[in-house]
Amino acid sequence: MNATLAEPAAIPLRTRPCGGAFDPADHSAYLRWRAEKLARFPASVDALVVDVADPAHCTDDEREALIERIRRANMAVYRSPPGVMTRHGLRRFGRSLGLSRLDEHLCAEEDGISQLRVKAGIESGEYIPYTDRPLSWHCDGYYNSPERAIGAMMLHCVTDASEGGENALMDHEMLYIALRDKGARFIESLMHPEALTIPANIQNGEVVRPERVGPVFSVDPASGALHMRYTARGRNIRWRDDPVTSEAVTLIGRILEDPSSAVFRYRLRPGEGILCNNVLHNRTGFRDEPGSGRQRLVYRARFFDRVAAT
Ligand SMILES: [Fe+2]
Repeated sequence: MNATLAEPAAIPLRTRPCGGAFDPADHSAYLRWRAEKLARFPASVDALVVDVADPAHCTDDEREALIERIRRANMAVYRSPPGVMTRHGLRRFGRSLGLSRLDEHLCAEEDGISQLRVKAGIESGEYIPYTDRPLSWHCDGYYNSPERAIGAMMLHCVTDASEGGENALMDHEMLYIALRDKGARFIESLMHPEALTIPANIQNGEVVRPERVGPVFSVDPASGALHMRYTARGRNIRWRDDPVTSEAVTLIGRILEDPSSAVFRYRLRPGEGILCNNVLHNRTGFRDEPGSGRQRLVYRARFFDRVAAT
């Protein structure tokens, strides 16, 4: 009855592609793909914004405009009138874009959609989204098993904060280019099946989530799409003990902070949302005005599917 309760079909992620732009050994395919990607990549975040009158009943033109942005940059910003979107509408919007398999996250509500707002008593770890603290660079679901890798996600702003709460976004394919241009060996090291380990989440002696070991970069054999699994978190993660991996991780950090990198910044206002193929993102801290009755609220939906997967 409830699709969120069903186990998703296994998504085998191939970690070492045989030929193609994401194969560290296939230099000519990489250069062809790189030239095309850079030629089509939007110059600014404004080019990603699409007006959608009612996301739950997206028109063909609106859907095509969103998919066109996703094909170029793996992300789009939609702008709908405040108060129109409901959680049910968000699911319907997702389905119209080919996103039907929702991740049933630990903190998601029964319908698989998380309500991100400040919750009392949350201090750290995987629950920082439920605080007003800054959220460092990551791709969603880096602590998921490979079979439950997040292909796409949506953030929908119901209420914005009095101050702050801006997202930075970087297409993981642009990060791949920036890193690969420094050396294919860095890509090779991050495709290692043991590149990144997230230790088990244990609370009160109970294993809430087991340890996760896997690559940073992998390729979905069904679509040929690049998938990234990453967190800039410094604590409670283990990188493979290897000099090239260490250098690659340092380089990623530098690329993400480099003002010349293809990083977009956007502060969602009520009715607006980000739709993306799980690109790298972060969030600044924010402040809800005490006593105003206004509290930042963002709906988040994560899917095992990707937008424009073919
Ligand atoms: Fe996130």
